[in-house]
Amino acid sequence: MKNEMNQAELLARVNTSHQGGGSERVRAISARIVGDLFKAIDDLDIQPDEFWAGVDWISRLGASGQAGLITAGLGFDRLLDIRQDEADERAGLAKGTPRAIEGPLYVAGAPSFKGEVVLDEGADLKGDVFVMEGQVLDTHGKPVPHALVDVWHANDHGRYSHFDPAQPAYNLRRRIETDAQGRYRFRSCLPPGYAIPPNSPTSELFTALGRHGNRPAHVHFLVAAPGLRALTTQVNISGDPFIHDDFAFATRDDLIVEVQKGVSPAGYESLGLTQPFGLVRFNFTLQPARDEDESAPKSRMARALG
Ligand code: DHB
Ligand code: FE
Repeated sequence: MKNEMNQAELLARVNTSHQGGGSERVRAISARIVGDLFKAIDDLDIQPDEFWAGVDWISRLGASGQAGLITAGLGFDRLLDIRQDEADERAGLAKGTPRAIEGPLYVAGAPSFKGEVVLDEGADLKGDVFVMEGQVLDTHGKPVPHALVDVWHANDHGRYSHFDPAQPAYNLRRRIETDAQGRYRFRSCLPPGYAIPPNSPTSELFTALGRHGNRPAHVHFLVAAPGLRALTTQVNISGDPFIHDDFAFATRDDLIVEVQKGVSPAGYESLGLTQPFGLVRFNFTLQPARDEDESAPKSRMARALG
């Protein structure tokens, strides 16, 4: 009979399509990943109890909606950025502001404002007031009017609205349209660092790996304009103890910003400032888009799922 088989014969049968149809690409990726896992189980002598505990962990990870936290912590998000940087280099594309990982905490549809906005309005935050301002530019240094600057960051507990039921909808999430000179500015409170949720499938894995789950203080951006390539990036606040030890590997040298302390509020009254505050200046440079889709301000999932 034909039903007894060794490991190699089983793998060959798992990876054989009898029906035809389906997707060649999915078949190739599945064959490679399943083959690599078969090999890992054999090489590492993974025991049934270890295998099934792993399956249980994946189920709990999915149920908790934390798959996107694990991809960042295991380096996959940065890996995709590194690969995109390499592809840009090969294609000879002009360099813009470095991209950085989106993270799993973006929410589309934040309230929209022209030129400037007070991000921490009504947020009752503890933390240093800061203003971030600058221009959106193209790779020739030309300002881009009416560009979109979509900004989001954590509250003073290091948590993000939408994912944290204690916060109002779109708390610390805003979209700013640059003015005629391509300028944007906003006021907020400097966020602290971020840590993965305790007592979660994510923290379970990192504890088992002997790794921490901390990110340095950071502010996220999705910057976009017609004809230019949408940029997902973040700035990391200089001086944070985890600035060079981000569990998500997202810090980039050119994205570390200094907060200039004790800046006079003159000229910043429209942001409600009457006391000296911290100022961060940062310009975003966008690469040219090669097609319309590249300029669409979409999250990674929205892009992937069409
Ligand atoms: C994670 C959290 C973030 O705030 C972020 O920017 C990136 C990743 C995470 O928990 O995986
Ligand atoms: Fe974040």
